[in-house]
Amino acid sequence: MINSGKAKLDSLPADLLTLEDYARLAQSYVDPPVWAWLQGGSGSLQALEANRNALQRLAVYNRLLVECRHGTTAIRLLGQDVAHPVLLAPIGFQRLVHPEGEVACARGALDTALVVSTLASCPLEDIAGAAAGPLWFQLYFQPERHQTLALVRRAEAAGYQALVVTLDTPVKPQGVAAQKAGFALPESVSSVNVADFAPTSPVRLTRADSFIFQGVMAYAPQLGDIDWLRGQTRLPILAKGVSHPDDARMLIGAGLDGIIVSNHGGRSLEAAPAAIDALPAVREALGRDATILMDGGIRTGSDVLKAIALGANAVMIGRPQLHALAVAGSLGVAHMLKLLREELEIAMALSGCPTIKAITPACLFRAEGVPC
Ligand SMILES: Cc1cc2nc3c(=O)[nH]c(=O)nc-3n(C[C@H](O)[C@H](O)[C@H](O)COP(=O)(O)O)c2cc1C
Repeated sequence: MINSGKAKLDSLPADLLTLEDYARLAQSYVDPPVWAWLQGGSGSLQALEANRNALQRLAVYNRLLVECRHGTTAIRLLGQDVAHPVLLAPIGFQRLVHPEGEVACARGALDTALVVSTLASCPLEDIAGAAAGPLWFQLYFQPERHQTLALVRRAEAAGYQALVVTLDTPVKPQGVAAQKAGFALPESVSSVNVADFAPTSPVRLTRADSFIFQGVMAYAPQLGDIDWLRGQTRLPILAKGVSHPDDARMLIGAGLDGIIVSNHGGRSLEAAPAAIDALPAVREALGRDATILMDGGIRTGSDVLKAIALGANAVMIGRPQLHALAVAGSLGVAHMLKLLREELEIAMALSGCPTIKAITPACLFRAEGVPC
């Protein structure tokens, strides 16, 4: 079964007011193993929990008597005007929670930029056909370069405007909860955009070999692959999954156009730092003009403001888009984004920041009362 079969809402109950409300309601719209996959993180959940905990440790000064009549959430991102600094993060296999998967999500995204996963369960051209807003394509390097290039060419031809190359999961830890719940991809849901690639012959392992090092990591991308990719396309390329400032410097040095600070929503390295904690050092390393996005744990408008204060140009949200999709399809995604944007506007108005540029580290309050 693709999802619980419960009909999606076509009108919204009055008490659906926050992203957390969507998360609570979504559980009853999704089969338990899919829920375990979607909500889960790797290992002990240290990185998953750190994302939320670190955001909640931050507080924002309530500022008074600031003129906000001309306020706006609009920004320029990669040379384009966008209405607000929130994007939808790449999430694979969305047909697990909605029969129309990523196509329904794209319809609900309206003017929000959507990053479509390599592991999408709908053809990337169909998603482009349904999207009204800007589209970026998230690229996983494939075992063969010609396969990777085929994906890039399809994304270019379908009108995607940027590539996001995800680098933080050359090994994908299985979530413990998903394993215990017996999660397995049903045959009816697959990563259709890579389905035609001929399987690569598996690396032959000796008894002395490690499945991880000599097996899985044999296909892991290297810096040379980044150089190669840079030479293949004129689309802007952002690297996703950065936490260390040296990696950020290396990737920008290789000609990439931006960095996404992320720990994959706590689904990669179990002990990775909270994305919000890793962000300031990356901004410090790259300087004020670099394009830096962040994701991981963003659930409220104040969270968006905190991330911008600590150096993000924009943020992405992951799980909440699946929650909204599971509950009410396109309508849910559009509503969830509207809620978040309104929360951001309220947070900006109350913190005395009429524009995104006005949001700085000085907006943040530390417990000892010293602005950070
Ligand atoms: C169910 C699920 C599937 C995901 N699939 C992908 C993917 O295909 N590609 C990718 O780069 N990141 C993927 N991610 C990571 C998200 O893009 C994003 O980094 C993360 O969800 C942000 O954290 P949040 O869920 O707390 O907002 C996935 C995350 C989840 C929860």
